[in-house]
Amino acid sequence: MKYGHFDDLNREYVITQPDTPLPWINYLGCQAYFGIISNTAGGYSFYRDARLRRLTRYRYNNVPMDFGGRYVYLRDDESREFWSPSWQPTRTELKDYSCRHGMGYTVIGSTRGGIEAHTRYFVPLDENLEIWQLTVTNRRATRARISAFASIEFCLWDAQDDATNFQRNFNIGEVEVEDGVIYHKTEYRERRNHFAYYACSEPGAGFDTQREAFLGRYRGWDKPAAVEAGQLTNSIAHGWSPIGAHQVKLDLAPGETRQIVFVLGYHENPVAQKFDPPNSQTINKTLVKPVIAKYLDPKQADAAFERLRQYWAGLLDIFQVNTPDIHTNRMVNIWNAYQCMATFNMSRSASFFESGIGRGLGFRDSNQDLLGFVHMAPARARERILDLSATQLETGGAYHQYQPLTKRGNNDIGGGFNDDPHWLIVGVSAYLKETGDWSILDEPVQYDNEPGSEKPLYDHLQRSFRYTLTRLGPHGLPLIGRADWNDCLNLNCFSDTPGQSFQTTTNKDGKVAESVFIAGLFVIAGRELAAIAKHRGLHNEAATYLEEVAKMEQVVRKQGWDGEWFLRAYDDFGAKIGSRECEEGKIFIESNGFCVLAGIGLDDGKANKALAATGKFLATKHGIVLQQPAYSKYYLNLGEISSYPPGYKENAGIFCHNNPWVMIAEARLGHGDLAHDYYSRINPSAREEISDLHRCEPYVYAQMIAGKDAPTHGEAKNSWLTGTAAWNYYAIVQWILGVRTTLDGLEIAPVIPKSWPGFTATRTFRGVVYRISIERKGDGNRIALTVDGSPLKGNIVPPPADGRKTVSIKGILT
Ligand code: BGC
Ligand code: NOJ
Repeated sequence: MKYGHFDDLNREYVITQPDTPLPWINYLGCQAYFGIISNTAGGYSFYRDARLRRLTRYRYNNVPMDFGGRYVYLRDDESREFWSPSWQPTRTELKDYSCRHGMGYTVIGSTRGGIEAHTRYFVPLDENLEIWQLTVTNRRATRARISAFASIEFCLWDAQDDATNFQRNFNIGEVEVEDGVIYHKTEYRERRNHFAYYACSEPGAGFDTQREAFLGRYRGWDKPAAVEAGQLTNSIAHGWSPIGAHQVKLDLAPGETRQIVFVLGYHENPVAQKFDPPNSQTINKTLVKPVIAKYLDPKQADAAFERLRQYWAGLLDIFQVNTPDIHTNRMVNIWNAYQCMATFNMSRSASFFESGIGRGLGFRDSNQDLLGFVHMAPARARERILDLSATQLETGGAYHQYQPLTKRGNNDIGGGFNDDPHWLIVGVSAYLKETGDWSILDEPVQYDNEPGSEKPLYDHLQRSFRYTLTRLGPHGLPLIGRADWNDCLNLNCFSDTPGQSFQTTTNKDGKVAESVFIAGLFVIAGRELAAIAKHRGLHNEAATYLEEVAKMEQVVRKQGWDGEWFLRAYDDFGAKIGSRECEEGKIFIESNGFCVLAGIGLDDGKANKALAATGKFLATKHGIVLQQPAYSKYYLNLGEISSYPPGYKENAGIFCHNNPWVMIAEARLGHGDLAHDYYSRINPSAREEISDLHRCEPYVYAQMIAGKDAPTHGEAKNSWLTGTAAWNYYAIVQWILGVRTTLDGLEIAPVIPKSWPGFTATRTFRGVVYRISIERKGDGNRIALTVDGSPLKGNIVPPPADGRKTVSIKGILT
């Protein structure tokens, strides 16, 4: 069963039934001011950091679910009936409910009793505010007297403290109301120089800022007493829970439409100019007033919306494809690219499943996210790379996470995840391939944010590589440390105390447990680094890297091979993990996908065997599970992976992030049918018809789909903020469609299904628009290219020598 449909032309997903299995959300904002918004107007807003600068409250894991939001109420002032055009929070029956989630905006609306209402929510580019444009139309044959209410609940900035420290919080809330604008100024009297404001374009018939006055005692957002009574009370909050609510009265002739604009925003004043008059406690509003006035004007709001549309059209146009498969097209052309931006911006911070309190930016996560993002905003990718590498340690190791607000490594988690440093090489290499901007390697970057420790970025890459060479275990494989890519395979943890963090507890000396996955990653990173070194003329250095890579490949073939597939690891006792000798967890996806992706075993049949075993033991119709058999009990020597019930998360869930590794590996073996088949199994659009089972949004990837050992096999969780977005984008675009960036130009190497007659694509790459058309004339993956009519030797299209800005590439597959 479906809850809506794709509108590909408008780049929207249209939800037509409000009670989706879970809130289906969207993101507002793409620079500094952000919000999440559900299909029934739930969600919250924040400035830069979802924990430290939260503007509005949301109640995670509430019942009913998805409470706290950008709520609009309409009240028929004659019949006294009231409802919400977004269904929540009143959950009144509606006609023609729809929610259109688009690129950076959401429009929710419906009709009830002949009154049609829609609200368009978005964040204008380059501003720290959001606009709600509410349009109300009277479809009755008679006049309608309607009160429109809009409301939010302020968060007292620090979302963690806001949800726990009530003995203080109930005393500190403060607001000002001036010219109908509500200003939330809690803690402005002391160390904060920022405040929030909530304004309305129409003369108000009333406002409220004290929650209890608006809702009434023992009432919720579904039945506010002041809305029921038809009159807000002009309350001023002193402590307790400050809110913002506006009331506007409309007297609508038949057919008449009125628009009301609400603006919710964040403003920082210069510290020396906080108050006006200077010796008062009143907010100085000189700088913010013009901004508010500007966006309350519907024409300005429309213009800002148009700019946002153009911005997204420009980003998505960088790569567009037309294949015979609609699910491939809409994910690549619209939603997958869009999700890559959200994960880049938020990392793993704020979604329906991430509270925005827990995590900073992951070192490995952010580097991998670049794979799917770098082509859209290379300048921001550059900045991210420099921020990330500045948190690297002098040892070459890395803090596992860093805080976006301070840009410093997170001490609570620390380092010792031995895969982390290699992802920096992968991220930088992706950046170089996209941009050709070699200057980044010479940028001076600190270690551990220590002034004076600056070294060129290239030095950071060298140390990343060497980090592993000085951390090899008894079999010559890389030591795993706290964990490798799989945060939950904690081989040095041995935790028997409830509540202890699996990630930060290490009871072992770390000198035995080894990872075959890191070995595969080392091989990839080493080859990338060698190519970079060669490009810089450092031929000896490049040769050394390749020697180390060759040595590691040998070790993997000997010590990392189990006969039919690649082993996963050795534990602290030197025992195998991911081997037929094991009782549970005999075969894992990560080492098999990644070693083949790295090219290990392509020449001696191991790659083919490993992928055949992966397909046989791990693939399901809902995707490829992480390992088999699932762990049925807790193993002290394995850690968190065995803490999950079988089939969930890292314990044999379909952990979507690593499925693309197998797609790429299959593509490397020339298996286009299987690669695309795996791609389709977890493609959210291709799963739309089974929305009742899948439950998460059909337009974005989720971190996980329950594996075959789970009673809910096929059910997705943790949508939106997952490394899955970048890897799937990378797998389909660069390896299956085969439109691949290289240091020397654009490579064209499709490995597509046999049934496809071909495809066309456009790609803007280093300022040149490439129009690509691929035609299949045989069953294989051999490609012959002509570029602007002339046959090309090889399949890497170099930048046009004569400065042409459009290039046409034709490819014949045989
Ligand atoms: C979660 C894992 C996740 C890790 C990331 C753990 O607490 O359970 O699934 O990969 O945190 O840091
Ligand atoms: C989520 C983490 O953010 C990511 O770094 C990790 O690779 C996966 N979980 C798998 O454990």
